[in-house]
Amino acid sequence: MEISEAHARELEKQVARKQQLREQINGELAGVERILFEAGCGHGHWLADYAEANPEVTCVGIDLITWRIRKGLDKRDKRNLKNLFFYKAELGEFLEVLPPHIRFERTVLLFPDPWPKAKHHRRRMVQTAFLDEVAKRTDTGGTFCFRSDDRPYFDWTVEHLETHPEWEIDDAAQWPHETETYFQSLMEEYFSVVARRV
Ligand SMILES: C[S@@+](CC[C@H](N)C(=O)[O-])C[C@H]1O[C@@H](n2cnc3c(N)ncnc32)[C@H](O)[C@@H]1O
Repeated sequence: MEISEAHARELEKQVARKQQLREQINGELAGVERILFEAGCGHGHWLADYAEANPEVTCVGIDLITWRIRKGLDKRDKRNLKNLFFYKAELGEFLEVLPPHIRFERTVLLFPDPWPKAKHHRRRMVQTAFLDEVAKRTDTGGTFCFRSDDRPYFDWTVEHLETHPEWEIDDAAQWPHETETYFQSLMEEYFSVVARRV
């Protein structure tokens, strides 16, 4: 099948971007075997606080937006947190290039974009394929933590977790760490769920 020139250029850019990310990760995370992973970390409020309170845990946050990642890196540098890493990356591309030996002890999604229109639901970060991928990298007992102000997206996530064979909602689990994120500070109410890898 022939592809257009524009599509070919986009593919080339994608290959170069992933290669650059791969090299950055391989350099910075050399020797790391387990991480707490936050997808869509925004300004890094939650992750920087978590990393400060848990210096033994390697914390990795990703976000699509460069200036948000810069804000996270500023927090890391100001607090001199050696266990905290931020990458400007798209979720699918990050999971593709992350070395396969790196395991997730916890995965966190805080106020991810809800994409309310039905035709945009496929853009939500929580999808069966994503939960499959995170499950592959998580040992039994590891957790997936999700918080949103958007009830329909919260219900969608609960449904995906309830029907997934490798995740079980743990109603007794405590939220791992309380710190207001930028988006949390804007919301009057929100809903949280923690699931465990079975
Ligand atoms: C509503 S904001 C929430 C940010 C932060 N978690 C908070 O609570 O303040 C959602 C974030 O997810 C990021 N994001 C959306 N889709 C993404 C993707 N596919 N890969 C990486 N980041 C993504 C956006 O750039 C944005 O910063």
